[in-house]
Amino acid sequence: MIQFILNNQIIRTSVNSGITLLDFIREHQKLKGTKIGCREGDCGACTILVGELNDIEVTYKSFTSCISPLGNANGKHIVTVEGINLSAELNTVQKAMTDNFATQCGFCTPGFVVSMTGYSLDDNKLNLNSCNDAISGNICRCTGYKSIEKAGFEIEKKLESKDQNHQIEWLIKEGFIPDYFKTIPDRLKDLVMSPRAESRGQKETIVANGTDLYVRYADKLSEEKVHLISDDKILKGISFNNNSCTIGANTTVTELLENEKLLTIFPKLPSFLKLVSSEQIRNMGTLGGNFVNASPIGDMSIFFLALNSTLTIQRENGTERNIPFQEFHKDYKKYDLQKGELLKNISFRVLDASEKFNFEKVSKRTHLDIASVNSAGLISLKNGVISEAHFSLGGVAAIPKYLFKTNKFLKGELIVSETIHLAEKVMQSEISPISDVRGTSDYKRLLARQLFFAHFMTLFPNDVELNKMIAL
Ligand SMILES: Cc1cc2nc3c(=O)[nH]c(=O)nc-3n(C[C@H](O)[C@H](O)[C@H](O)COP(=O)(O)OP(=O)(O)OC[C@H]3O[C@@H](n4cnc5c(N)ncnc54)[C@H](O)[C@@H]3O)c2cc1C
Ligand code: FES
Ligand code: FES
Repeated sequence: MIQFILNNQIIRTSVNSGITLLDFIREHQKLKGTKIGCREGDCGACTILVGELNDIEVTYKSFTSCISPLGNANGKHIVTVEGINLSAELNTVQKAMTDNFATQCGFCTPGFVVSMTGYSLDDNKLNLNSCNDAISGNICRCTGYKSIEKAGFEIEKKLESKDQNHQIEWLIKEGFIPDYFKTIPDRLKDLVMSPRAESRGQKETIVANGTDLYVRYADKLSEEKVHLISDDKILKGISFNNNSCTIGANTTVTELLENEKLLTIFPKLPSFLKLVSSEQIRNMGTLGGNFVNASPIGDMSIFFLALNSTLTIQRENGTERNIPFQEFHKDYKKYDLQKGELLKNISFRVLDASEKFNFEKVSKRTHLDIASVNSAGLISLKNGVISEAHFSLGGVAAIPKYLFKTNKFLKGELIVSETIHLAEKVMQSEISPISDVRGTSDYKRLLARQLFFAHFMTLFPNDVELNKMIAL
């Protein structure tokens, strides 16, 4: 039995937990405001909000319902565009859209309105610093984005006077959301306390948040039993112990961005992670999903390879084993995970002051696109000499590539342009890009070179000589 609150209504259903939330909303509940565009998480027409109870508060995030399994709604507050309507007038976001002529055919509009409402409800501005960021996963084919942006600016202006201590009450008073929202925390508490009638199976397809699986297999998974792990507490959380950081496999990209300690370790984390997908997909996509999907251009794989990380894998009998992340991916879509095993977490040594880290990505579109080539690099220095180097490159081999030879070559070398030029030759010798829709093999080699150099230029911006020589 799946139980959740859909807008203002409690839902108890035995429908297969693998069907998409979008189909449940439109076909079972006949709420047609949530639109179907691409069914691949790309256009945002199906955007809904997912509210999760944390102690006393509910935090809301935007999701694309077309690639989200219904079972993941269990215990949550799901909000569609119908659920933010006021009884007698347009709500504040809807009004900003009409006042700024930001809608024409209207097909995309519910998605935009829901994403913007998600922005209004979000009290964690570490991850979203503008309304534009919140709509990074919404596409409009006819209005043009300027008027939508203007509506966004108007909303931002209104939110400047938000009462941070009484957010929900303020949003209700200002007409952003209807007043039933204030009843949701207590109603969710009651819901979560109800015993679950169904225990999840262990043998079915493992689904975290579905952003990889549902793009390809939504129909198949709708008819099967799925093993949903996204609420498994043992796979969640970011913790620090001595100089080590451990991140649960179910951690989403947004949760990385919301962690203040990670932001101190990686001050440029927001600019790195804004290159990863869109707001909705960052809210959903997990590290475990990215690693096991095993795409050669998986951004999180590339990021954590360069941190010289260790994976903890939980066997079916509950025992655990650890492996270096560099050894996890074996060949195209082949990896070191047996049937019944789960990725539990990934850990890495927290960087000290002598260490520098950088992430680079080139894709056809800057946002909401997978990489043509991506790369990360970590350099540790002792007295100007490289004591450790960990570089990774995506899109240049059958797996997300840890550059074993290049890293070995760099160890013990001085940071001078000659070293970097020689290291680039070693790097070219250990990659084997193929030509595909994301570029020719030659183009990818060129990108690999440029990104490799970009790491050094970014990490040592004041070394004028080095930068001049690299650029030659
Ligand atoms: C529109 C769109 C844009 C995207 N953009 C990007 C991008 O810019 N960069 C990028 O890298 N990716 C991108 N992706 C891909 C995807 O979002 C990520 O790979 C994401 O991290 C997958 O996580 P998930 O929880 O949704 O995975 P799921 O689809 O739930 O699972 C993926 C695979 O991992 C397995 N799995 C998940 N968790 C575990 C676990 N703990 N143990 C064992 N197996 C597990 C599943 O069985 C499945 O095989 C995009 C996807 C979409 C739809
Ligand atoms: S229908 Fe396009 S993102 Fe869901
Ligand atoms: S108003 Fe027509 S697609 Fe946006």
